[in-house]
Amino acid sequence: MTPLPVNGLETLPRYSAGSHELDGITTPIVLSANENPRGPSPKAVAAIQDHAADVHRYPNGNPEDLKAAIIDRYDLAAHQGEVILGAGSDEILSLLAKGFASAGKTVMMSQYGFLMYPIAAKAAGAEIQSIPEQNYLADVEAILAAVTEDTALIFLANPNNPTGSYLNQTEITRLYQGLPDHVLLVLDGAYSEYVDRADYSDHHDLVASGRVVVTHTFSKAHGLAGLRLGWAFAPPAIADIYERLRSPFNINALSIKAGIAALADQTYLEETVRLNAEQRARLQQSLAELAINVLPSVGNFLLLDFGSREAASNAEKTLLKGGIIVRGMTGYGLPHCLRLTIGLPEENTAVLQALKQIAP
Ligand SMILES: Cc1ncc(COP(=O)(O)O)c(C=O)c1O
Repeated sequence: MTPLPVNGLETLPRYSAGSHELDGITTPIVLSANENPRGPSPKAVAAIQDHAADVHRYPNGNPEDLKAAIIDRYDLAAHQGEVILGAGSDEILSLLAKGFASAGKTVMMSQYGFLMYPIAAKAAGAEIQSIPEQNYLADVEAILAAVTEDTALIFLANPNNPTGSYLNQTEITRLYQGLPDHVLLVLDGAYSEYVDRADYSDHHDLVASGRVVVTHTFSKAHGLAGLRLGWAFAPPAIADIYERLRSPFNINALSIKAGIAALADQTYLEETVRLNAEQRARLQQSLAELAINVLPSVGNFLLLDFGSREAASNAEKTLLKGGIIVRGMTGYGLPHCLRLTIGLPEENTAVLQALKQIAP
């Protein structure tokens, strides 16, 4: 008999990432993974170069300088909680599921939530429960109604990937207040830097309750996806479990230096957010003029609804022919949609030119 995996892991779905390669095209336009099309801050690049020769040394397993920079930039001193670090926020999501869910427990997510949530839940041995959305928006009422004493954890991305929608402060507060004390609410703020709405909050204030964690990443607005650096603001008791579970050197030495440099370059971040908002508005308007249905988005990506699987697949083929890679949405249960990362102005021009060919 061969060794058997636990928890039915042989049926665990594998995460399928947005593609970066296109046969026959050396430099395709990659708009498939919600990365920062401007790249990282030059200051982050310089920090990586400055420390490249030091990588024979183990990293600092508890980089207080990076944590202090995060606390400073995200105004966390005003709130009660601790910063934890992960190899991408993916690692934090997975270890929170491992630490707080198990066989016999349920992890809840919204219908079109991020695909890592079911993987993290099932890897921990827990059941995943997906709550139907209303108009591509998480339904607070339905989530609260579905909670039982077996509900261990709720993953909620705000803004959500791939829909681009968000719940305002009132709705998040209603969700938090309606949850019983035994449920850990994980608010995933991977795209929070991009949101420019007055009624949005990343809700670091709720962490003081002891039952809310807010996760963030350097992979999106900070342009460091390849380094794998994520963080979360967590209650001390939850941070303590995380610190016991993580491997001692989960954050690599270059990401510590690059993360600090990226946080110090606020001008670069602001320009990233400004350009994204400008190009998001431009694409929304131009796509509407092509009679393509675009969902409202507060993130760095747009969900395009082509009405049918065939039409979406046709649009994807047309884009690929133009050297443009977007993200098919079949894995998310949205085969009639494509997700488009907002690119540089010239990349977006190429997208619009390609899509003009299929406009009715
Ligand atoms: C909603 C959401 N959360 C978390 C992540 C994970 O990001 P990372 O592991 O790069 O921090 C992503 C990445 O696409 C995401 O879309």
